[in-house]
Order: sequence, then C-alpha cells, then structure tokens
Amino acid sequence: MLVCSCNFITDKDIEDTIVSLLDEDCWQLIVPAKVYHAMEKRGRCCGCFPNVVDIIIRTTEAYHAQRDSTEAEVFDFMTRLKEFHEENRRADVERRRKAHRAA
Ligand code: FES
Repeated sequence: MLVCSCNFITDKDIEDTIVSLLDEDCWQLIVPAKVYHAMEKRGRCCGCFPNVVDIIIRTTEAYHAQRDSTEAEVFDFMTRLKEFHEENRRADVERRRKAHRAA
C-alpha cells in the first residue's frame, strides 16, 4: 500500500527500513525523519508522517515480540516510544496553530 505519495513509498518499504534500523540498535527511538533519511528520501508535505508513526509503533512491537526481549523491557520501551510520538504530534499541532495565527 502506498503510504507516501510524494516519494512513492509503500508500507513494505517503510517496514523493511524500520527492521534494518532495529537490527542496528533495537532500542533506538525511530522517527519518520530517521526512516526517510535511511531511505535517502525526505518529507515534502509530511502528510504521511502520522501513518509512518503508526507503522513505526506496529513494526517495533512486532519486532520485539519475535525477540528475547522481556515483557517489562518491551512495555517500558513501547511506552516511551508512544509518549515520544505523542509529544511530537502535539508540538506539530501547536506549530500549525501558531503558523495559522501568523498568516
Ligand atoms: S505524502 Fe509523504 S512527504 Fe508528502
């Protein structure tokens, strides 16, 4: 399924890149910009980023479910990952609100 129409990136491309990043360091926090940088792409309109965040969370959960990670480690990591993305989402909304007011 096409996720990013600006760069013609599919969900499979994104999932494969996330797995490669997790293979390098399974506890790193992955953000859409990191995924796109690894694919040598960049966000243009960035409208796909919320979907990319969902794919990051889903793929990271599946990755750790297949590993020897303990439930406590995975729970702690996934909680931090979701909080991190939620904070970024709130910051994006606030930035758009300020830009809208300035316009
Ligand atoms: S849809 Fe992905 S950058 Fe525009």
